[in-house]
Amino acid sequence: MADTGKTAKLTLDDKTVELPVLSPTAGPDVIDIRKLYAQAGVFTYDPGYTSTASCASSITYIDGDKGELLHRGYPIDQLAEKSHFLEVCYLLLYGELPTAEELEDFESRVTHHTMIHEQMHNFFRGFRRDAHPMATMVGVVGAMSAFYHDSTDINDPWQREVASIRLIAKMPTIAAMAYKYSIGQPDIYPRNDLDYSSNFLRMCFAVPAEEYEVNPILSRAMDRILMLHADHEQNASTSTVRLASSSGANPFACIAAGIACLWGPAHGGANQACLEMLREIGTVDRIPEYIKRAKDKSDPFRLMGFGHRVYKNFDPRAKVMKQSADEVLELLGIENNETLKVAKELERIALEDEYFIEKKLYPNVDFYSGIILDAMGFPTSMFTPIFAVARTVGWVSQWKEMIADPEMKIGRPRQLYTGYTRRDYVDVENR
Ligand code: ACO
Repeated sequence: MADTGKTAKLTLDDKTVELPVLSPTAGPDVIDIRKLYAQAGVFTYDPGYTSTASCASSITYIDGDKGELLHRGYPIDQLAEKSHFLEVCYLLLYGELPTAEELEDFESRVTHHTMIHEQMHNFFRGFRRDAHPMATMVGVVGAMSAFYHDSTDINDPWQREVASIRLIAKMPTIAAMAYKYSIGQPDIYPRNDLDYSSNFLRMCFAVPAEEYEVNPILSRAMDRILMLHADHEQNASTSTVRLASSSGANPFACIAAGIACLWGPAHGGANQACLEMLREIGTVDRIPEYIKRAKDKSDPFRLMGFGHRVYKNFDPRAKVMKQSADEVLELLGIENNETLKVAKELERIALEDEYFIEKKLYPNVDFYSGIILDAMGFPTSMFTPIFAVARTVGWVSQWKEMIADPEMKIGRPRQLYTGYTRRDYVDVENR
């Protein structure tokens, strides 16, 4: 972040303050308002942080107008085509693509941390069978703080490293166990001879009674889903992780906070909500009815899987996801899937509609991911947990970056107070 030498002038009544303008390596310049209150006695007002940079970061860059997503400078479409999830994890965590040796060492470290403490199995059993797997994950990941005391000291770089590897390694195991528990099947332990995505599929779909062969095309599709969701700069759940961590809380508690935030339908919960919406629409002839509802201001309905705070051209992840959906459905011989037909037609109609064009609403990554996961055999309740598995590396990378940042401060926004000013207490008999 370079000082441009430029300043922005703010005049309030008869007083003018000059604010430094900082230049990022990509994206718009940023007005540094850190001294604004001290100099001018005012705050800024920006609900939802639509114009506010909450931190400096060198991990991920999104150009919403171009529809570009870069991890450490590398475009997501190149990574989705040529790389794989654990390599992207390494890139996000350490800043560079690994050499063959570095990758082997990293994969081995992740692989050898996939089992969870045996006592944690008892913890799972405390949940009701019909608990949503996200509810279980929020609880179990938070509870890791109680099982891994040797990696909770955030001031020790080694403990931070161990916590990062543990979280990335154990998240698929935890998600799969949450799923198995919800369907009343025994847990399947991880296997070290399988790659990350194959291992996850096996832990979800194998049963002890018979052998389970991982289909390499499905495993590749899962790997792509994980890659496409790995990080997305300062989104709601990542900002939640950063805010929680800013108080010095331990990494497991902070990532549990990120999972809780991800669950909402405006964020990670959109993949579940989107497939449910496509099923509710059911047939192509009912699409106009739903488009009409989406445009109606008095109806809270929104087209799930459409729109994004940052992408105003297209979501580059959605393109790759659409291609993956075609491949997976062809492999499984379900190209004539009615839900896919509804999705494609809905996309076509919405993209030609004045309302969606004017508001720059395009399909986002979740529009097609649910179709793939459904075809693989996952229930909708597992869609958001899979997003959480993928995003763990993003949360962890941003958390590590933040802890190492000398400018890190506790996150403590100001407010525009609209309540009563001081008034005196009234005794109950006089109210
Ligand atoms: N359907 C219909 N109208 C929409 C939609 C939609 N999906 N999304 C936005 N709009 C409209 C809004 O009504 C608003 O109209 P107005 O200006 O007339 O009031 C305008 O477009 C701007 O919408 P905002 O909600 O102000 O945009 P914001 O950036 O705050 O929200 C969000 C982005 C939350 C993603 C929104 O587009 C949405 O709710 N989409 C559906 C849920 C979804 O798919 N979420 C996944 C996001 S991606 C991810 O987390 C991986």
